[in-house]
Amino acid sequence: MFSHLPEPKLDPILSLSVAYRNDPRSEKVDLGIGVYKNSLGETPIMQAIGLAEHKVLDTQKTKSYVGLAGCEEFNQSMVSLVLGDSPVLDRVSAIQTPGASGALRMLGDLMKIAQPNTTVWLSNPSYVNHQPVMEAAGLKVKHYSYFCPVTKQVDTARMLEEISHAGKDDVVLLHGCCHNPTGADIDLETWQQLTQLAQDKGFTPFVDVAYQGFGDGIDEDAAGLRYMAERVEEMMITTSCSKNFGLYRERTGAAIVLGRSAKDALNARGKLLTMARATYTMPPDHGAALVKTILQDAELKNLWLQELTGMQKRLVSLREALCHEFRTVHNSANFDFIQSHKGMFTVLGFSQQQMSRLREEFGIYGVGDGRINIAGLTEGDISYVADAIYKVS
Ligand code: LMR
Repeated sequence: MFSHLPEPKLDPILSLSVAYRNDPRSEKVDLGIGVYKNSLGETPIMQAIGLAEHKVLDTQKTKSYVGLAGCEEFNQSMVSLVLGDSPVLDRVSAIQTPGASGALRMLGDLMKIAQPNTTVWLSNPSYVNHQPVMEAAGLKVKHYSYFCPVTKQVDTARMLEEISHAGKDDVVLLHGCCHNPTGADIDLETWQQLTQLAQDKGFTPFVDVAYQGFGDGIDEDAAGLRYMAERVEEMMITTSCSKNFGLYRERTGAAIVLGRSAKDALNARGKLLTMARATYTMPPDHGAALVKTILQDAELKNLWLQELTGMQKRLVSLREALCHEFRTVHNSANFDFIQSHKGMFTVLGFSQQQMSRLREEFGIYGVGDGRINIAGLTEGDISYVADAIYKVS
């Protein structure tokens, strides 16, 4: 049965962590997978999560099943976090999923059932798992231009022009904030223009907001998608607690559907639940129990927000420090764009070969598409990393 299977291809992000661990050099920096590290190079459990864990341990009386949709209070809390107190909440439904990749797949499968001829439009480039997940769901995938390699910013005019050709059978996947991999975000005006296009052309927007809170803040990072949600008939959203709650391994995310009516949203949810039953039955509870505990407790929520703001501000200062190093030590303004990017990632505009040189000559592990994870840097790495990037550029 298995002998004809080809050798597996390595995952372009996950395989880097293994290669990094196995690298015997002492001078090495892991800027691959999107994980936040503090100034000691550690990814600690957030204090709010630690406190919620104690609370859950003290109060949880059973490990019995929760339900196909996971924890309903978690789902409601996530809808509020993403959509705020939007007037469209009465036609929104949500399910808890195993991480945001689980949410992407569930919504991909839902699209395949609801509208089999769907083509999903992805930004070029996009998160490396977007295309495999959508194709695994049996959907066609197309790309729209997004990033200008010269300015290292979004090529908004080209993006809007290409998306203006999307039609009723199309779904346009947008990054809510902190674009992965480029770090270049669209502004509110572009969200407004995209909303108008969705209304005029009839395509369905699909927003992945896995990094909410890492750009400008929880509400600020959701402003564009909230604007859009209030004006379009249908929309899908995936969200994750991996990054903003630091719950990576707990696989905690949600899939959110905005329907034309409350009935539509509930029917979509019903279909998602049937599909969940046929896939994994129900999502793991622990991460969702922690997030729910935090979001329903004013003190814990405040602490969590403070910690998240701390991480977000540190990313800004790491970006500033890197640019400062290029300017003062290497007399180069060529990397100023790093400061204008948002969230964990920045695309350097390097080729595969340049990324290999960074890895082989300097032990600096970034993703082959030129992405580096700013959140993987410590203050002590700045000079070494800037020097290596400068030499390879
Ligand atoms: C990343 O882009 O590094 C993260 O989202 C991790 C992943 O699952 O790919």
